[in-house]
Amino acid sequence: MSNPFSQADRTQIAEAMKPILAESVQLYVATQNVHWNVTGPLFQAVHALTEEQYLELAPAIDEIAERIRSLGQKAPGTMAQYMALGSIEDGDENANAEDMVRALKNGHNTIANHIRPLVATAADVNDEVSAGLLTDRLTVHEKAQWMLGAMVAE
Ligand SMILES: [Fe+2]
Repeated sequence: MSNPFSQADRTQIAEAMKPILAESVQLYVATQNVHWNVTGPLFQAVHALTEEQYLELAPAIDEIAERIRSLGQKAPGTMAQYMALGSIEDGDENANAEDMVRALKNGHNTIANHIRPLVATAADVNDEVSAGLLTDRLTVHEKAQWMLGAMVAE
């Protein structure tokens, strides 16, 4: 194994976490959009679940950003950077409830797919803290996919 957790390793992990920060913010905004604008028979269930999800995302965003700072990089903190770094699309406040739920599920799937390989990358350079944080985030995003998916037909 290479030099444990060199400055180059720290920079590599921090850079890789920046899109995860951006997509967490994008998902936070998209989740609130659904929370506020969902209509129809699913309203109460979706309104409640999305509240749980955005309340969970807010401190996670802070934790990811502070991990990037701990690794020596500036944390992206502008909407322009989030748009450039993240790939989760804005929600549509006029969509029907099922499409809103499917779009959120897709967002959690996208970020999970971006986090998954980084767990191994962080572990490979002995960055157990980032690996742990990313594993925790992956757990949340995989569970969210299940819960959102269970609300709507495939
Ligand atoms: Fe609310």
